[in-house]
Amino acid sequence: MPLRHFLFLRNYETAMSGGNGFISFEGIEGSGKSTQSRVLAEYLRSKGRQVVETAEPGGTDTGSKIRKLLLEPGNVIDPLAELLLYYASRAQLLKEVILPALQNNQVVITDRFTDSTVAYQGYARGIDLNVINTLNNLVVPDTMPQLTILLDFDVEEGLSRNRKAMKEDRFELEAVEFHRRVRNGFQKIAEQEPDRVKIVDASQSPDAVSRRIIEIVDELWH
Ligand code: TMP
Repeated sequence: MPLRHFLFLRNYETAMSGGNGFISFEGIEGSGKSTQSRVLAEYLRSKGRQVVETAEPGGTDTGSKIRKLLLEPGNVIDPLAELLLYYASRAQLLKEVILPALQNNQVVITDRFTDSTVAYQGYARGIDLNVINTLNNLVVPDTMPQLTILLDFDVEEGLSRNRKAMKEDRFELEAVEFHRRVRNGFQKIAEQEPDRVKIVDASQSPDAVSRRIIEIVDELWH
C-alpha cells in the first residue's frame, strides 16, 4: 500500500483538532514521571477535562508484551531490534489509544514518548538520529505532544531511588555513564524545541514539582 494511503487510513489529519490535548512526560529513571503524570491527570479532571493516561513502552495488550521483552534483564537485544520494538509498541499505542482519544476530544497524558527514543536509543545507545527521525515520520507524523514536561534530575539519585523501589530492569542495569548521556540527550532536545519542551527541576519536593507543572499547563490552556 502506498505510504500516503497508509497514513490516511490512520486518520492523522484529524487527530489534533478540537478541544483535545496531548502532553508527554520525559526524564531519566526515578525522576518522578509516573507520580507527576497522575497528579496532572487528576488536576485536569477536576477542571472538567476527560483525560486518558498511558505509558510507554506498553499501554496496550500487545505493547505490554513488547515491554516485557524490552525490559527483562538478561534478554539480548540488538540496538536496531530494540529501536524497532519501541516503535512497534508506539504504533500500536497510537492506533489503539492515543489517536482515538484525541479524536474524542480527550486529553492524553503519556509517561514517555518519542523523546525517550531520541535520548536512550539515539544519544545514549548511539543510533543515528536520522534513522530515528525517519521512523518518527513513519509512525508519528503530525501527532507530537503539544507540551512535553522534562523532569530533570540527578542521574545517581534517580537510579538509587529506583533501586530502593526494587526496580531494576534491563536499562537500570546500564552503566551510570549511559544514563548521563540520556540526561544530556533530553537537555539537548529541550534546547532545540523550547516551545514544546519545558524543563522542570525534579529535585524539589513532589508538591513543588506538581505546582510548577500545573502553572505551565495553565499557561498553555488559559
Ligand atoms: P519506564 O521505566 O519509564 O517505564 O521506561 C521503561 C524503560 O524504557 C526506561 O528505562 C526507558 C526505556 N525507553 C527507551 O529506551 N526508549 C523509549 O523509546 C522508551 C519509551 C523507553
